[in-house]
Amino acid sequence: MLSEQDNRRLTLTGPGTAMGNLFRQYWQPALLSRELEAGGAPKRVKILGEDFIAFRDGEGRAGVVEPRCPHRGADLFFGRNEHSGIRCAYHGWHFDVQGQCLDIPTASAKVAESLKPKAALHSLAVREACDMIWVHFGTPQGDTPQLDFTDLPPEHYFVSKKFQQCNWAQAVEGGIDTAHFSYLHANIDNGERAGLMPSQGVNEPPENGRYRWMIEDATPQFTILEHDAGLVMCAARQADNNQLYWRITQFMMPNHSMAPNSFPGDNHVGNTWVPVDDHSCWIFCYAYNPERPLSEQERRAYANGFGIFAEVDDNYVPIRRRENDYLIDREAQQTTNFTGISGISEQDAAIADSQGLIADRTRELLGQTDLGVVKFRRLMLESVDLMEKGGTPRGVGNALAYRVRSGDAMSEPDAVGLDVATNRFGELAGMSLRESRGTAA
Ligand code: FES
Ligand SMILES: [Fe+2]
Repeated sequence: MLSEQDNRRLTLTGPGTAMGNLFRQYWQPALLSRELEAGGAPKRVKILGEDFIAFRDGEGRAGVVEPRCPHRGADLFFGRNEHSGIRCAYHGWHFDVQGQCLDIPTASAKVAESLKPKAALHSLAVREACDMIWVHFGTPQGDTPQLDFTDLPPEHYFVSKKFQQCNWAQAVEGGIDTAHFSYLHANIDNGERAGLMPSQGVNEPPENGRYRWMIEDATPQFTILEHDAGLVMCAARQADNNQLYWRITQFMMPNHSMAPNSFPGDNHVGNTWVPVDDHSCWIFCYAYNPERPLSEQERRAYANGFGIFAEVDDNYVPIRRRENDYLIDREAQQTTNFTGISGISEQDAAIADSQGLIADRTRELLGQTDLGVVKFRRLMLESVDLMEKGGTPRGVGNALAYRVRSGDAMSEPDAVGLDVATNRFGELAGMSLRESRGTAA
C-alpha cells in the first residue's frame, strides 16, 4: 500500500515530476530501429509526456527533435525529409538530426546566418543499440544499458514493441510478479486449472514440470537480492521429490525487466516499459538466445504474438486491447483458458489495464507473494529521494551493470536464493549481488 502522495510520486513521469526527473537520468528506447527509414517519413513520438518527431536523414542518422518549427510553430511532422534533414512544409526552414537549423529561405543570407543559432530545435541525444533507437533527455552519463544480448549477432535476437493502455508502473509490477502465473496464465482442463503444457506426471523434465508446479503452488517464496542495476527476484515453488523450482526475474532501473521461464538452452525474454504519458506506455519486448541464432519459425511466432509478444497491428497496437475487452471468450474461460483471453501478453495487458489508468495503491492488501512489487516501489521512491539530495541513482552511468540474466533453476529444499542465482548465472546474476536491505513492510 502507498499513500496517495507516494502513488503519484511513483507513477507520474511528465516534465517537472519527481519520477519524470528520475527517468530523464537514463537512456530510454523511443522507437524500434526499423520504424525509421533513411530519408523516409518522420514519425510522431511521445515519451514521458513530451511530443517529438523522429526521422532518419539520407545518410541513415536518426534524430528525435521537438515537433514545433521555431519560425511560426508549424508541426514538422508534415515536413519533407530531404537528404540532410527535415524541411518545414510551411516556409521551408531546414533542420538536421541534431536540430541545427541549416537553411532559412525566408531571410537574406546575412540575416539567416545570424538567426540560425536561435532557430535550433530542441533535440534529444540519440543512440542505436539492440535494434532500438534510444534517447536521453539530458547529458548522458555513459552508454545505453548493456542488456544481456547487446553484443550478440543480430540473428540471435528479436525485438518488437506493443502499446499498453495504462500507467507504466503497474505494467512493470505485472512483469516482476511471477506469482500470478498460477492463475492468470493457467489453462482449464476438465473444469480444473491446468498448466500451459500438458503434464507427463511426476518425474517429467523440469521444462514441462514447471507448468504443473506453478499450478500446484500459488504461494512462491520470494527472496529479493540487490545489485548495481536493480533487483533480482527469486521465487521458489515446491517441485517433485522435495525439490524447489525457482523463477528468477531481474529488474533494472528504472523500467527494464528480464523475465523467467528459461532453463539453460532456452530463449530468454525481457521488457522495457517506457511511459508515453501517465496513462499509457510502450513495452519494448525482446527475445534472445546466447548460444544460437533464433530460428525463422521462432521469429515468425514472436512477430505474430507469442509469449511476451502481443499480436499487434501495423502501429504495434495489440489487436486484443482495452476497447474490445481483449476479445474475452467466456465459453473458453469455462473450458480451456482461465481468463478466456488468448495470449500470455494479452492476459498480462488486460489485467494491468483493469487496475485503472493509474492503479490506486492506497487501497490494497499486500501479502507475501507481493514482496518483489514492494521492493520495486521502494527502490524507485528511494532513488527519487537520492536524486533529489544530489546522489546518483542505481544504474546511471553504469551501462555494464545491466548485463544480467534471468531464468529458471532447480535446487535442493534448503537452498537460498543468493546461492541459487549465483550457481545458475555466475557473474550474470548481477555484479555486486547482495542480499536485500530491510524487510518488506
Ligand atoms: S513555420 Fe516552419 S518555416 Fe515557417
Ligand atoms: Fe504474466
